[in-house]
Amino acid sequence: MMADWSVPLADVIIDEGDLEAVVATYRSGWLSMGPRIEEFEQGFAAYLGVRHAIAVSSGTAALHLMCLASGLGPGDEVVVPSMTFVATVNAVRYTGATPVFADIAGPLEPWLSAPTCEAVIGPRTRAILYVAYGGHAGQLAAVADLAQDRGITLLQDAAHAVGTRLDGHQLGSIGRASAFSFFSNKNLAIGEGGMVTTDDDQLAAAVRLLRSHGMTTLSWDRHRGHAAGYDVVALGFNYRMDEPRAALGRRRLERLDAENAQRAELDARYRQRLADTVACAMAPADGVQPAHHIFTIVLADGVDRTAFREALRDEGVQTSVHYPPAHRFSIHSDDAPQLPLTDAYAATTVTLPLFAHMSLPQQDRVIAAVTASQA
Ligand SMILES: Cc1ncc(COP(=O)(O)O)c(C=O)c1O
Repeated sequence: MMADWSVPLADVIIDEGDLEAVVATYRSGWLSMGPRIEEFEQGFAAYLGVRHAIAVSSGTAALHLMCLASGLGPGDEVVVPSMTFVATVNAVRYTGATPVFADIAGPLEPWLSAPTCEAVIGPRTRAILYVAYGGHAGQLAAVADLAQDRGITLLQDAAHAVGTRLDGHQLGSIGRASAFSFFSNKNLAIGEGGMVTTDDDQLAAAVRLLRSHGMTTLSWDRHRGHAAGYDVVALGFNYRMDEPRAALGRRRLERLDAENAQRAELDARYRQRLADTVACAMAPADGVQPAHHIFTIVLADGVDRTAFREALRDEGVQTSVHYPPAHRFSIHSDDAPQLPLTDAYAATTVTLPLFAHMSLPQQDRVIAAVTASQA
C-alpha cells in the first residue's frame, strides 16, 4: 500500500490520452517490439538530434549494452562516480571491466570534474562514464575535453537528464553514447524502460543486435515478411521494450519540455525561498537548461539528518537520499578509495520533493517544514 504523503517525493500523471494510446496498443494485438517502438525511437532520436536511439527494457540494460557495444571488457578501467545509483557501477562490472571511482567536483556539485577524473586515469583507462546528476550538465564540457585529450571514450549515464541542454545541445548527444532510464520516478516515466542514444552507426548496430539475443532479424521483421529466418551472431540478451510502454513513452515525450519547464520554476522557487535557511546543491549554470530531475539540499555540519527527515515526514513530506555512495557498498568496497567530497555530500544531503505538477501549496508545505526544522 502506498503511504499517504501530503507531498510525495515524485509523482506521475497518466492522462486519458496516455491510457487510450496504451489501450489501442493492446487492442492491436502486437505487444512486443513493433511499430510503436520504431515511432518512439525515431521521436527520441529526433528530439535529441542524434542518428540512433535504441529502446530497451530498463536504464540498467541501456547502460550494460552501451558499455558492451563500446568494446569494454576485462582489463579495461572505467572512471565512474560513486555518487550515483549503483546500476552505473554494476553495468561496467557486467562487461568484466573495472570501475574506478572518482570524487565529485565540490561540496555542492555532486558530479565528476576534470581534475577528479584526471586523478584516477591510468594506462588502462578506456572510458569515463559521466553521470549528469540531478539532470544537470555539471562539469561535462570539461570532462569531455579531458577525454578527448587523453583519447578516452566518453559515455554518459543520462538517466536523470532527459531534456537537459548544454549550450543548446541535448546532453545525450554529447560523447560516444548515452544511456537513459524511463523508470517510474524519472522525468519521462513509463514504468520500466531505457534508451541508448548515439551517432555511431557501429555502436548502434551492436546495441540492436545484443538487445535481442544476437539475432539478425526480429519477430516484427518476420511478421512483416521482411525476413524468413535468422542467424545468431553474438551472445545477446532479451532486453527488448514492449509496445504499450513505447506508446506511453511517445506520448510523454510530447510534453517533456513543458514538464521540465515546470520543474525549473519549482527549482528556482525552492532556491529563492530556502536561500537563508539551508544550502541548495546544483546552482544554476550559464548555458545549461537542466531537466531538474531532483532537488537536493546539504545540511550544515552537526544537523541530525535522520531527525530532520523525520520532522518532514511528520508534516507529510517525503524525502530521500541520493545516494548512499557506491564505493561504500559491501560489493564494491574491497579496495575503497578516498573520496572525501563524496563521503561528505552523501552524509549530509537530502532530496526534497519535486515533480512537474507539484502545486505551490505543496511546495510551501515543504519549505515551511524545512524552515521550521532548521529554526
Ligand atoms: C543515475 C541512474 N543510473 C541508472 C539507473 C537505472 O535505471 P533503471 O532503473 O531504469 O534500470 C537509474 C535509475 O534507476 C539512475 O538514477
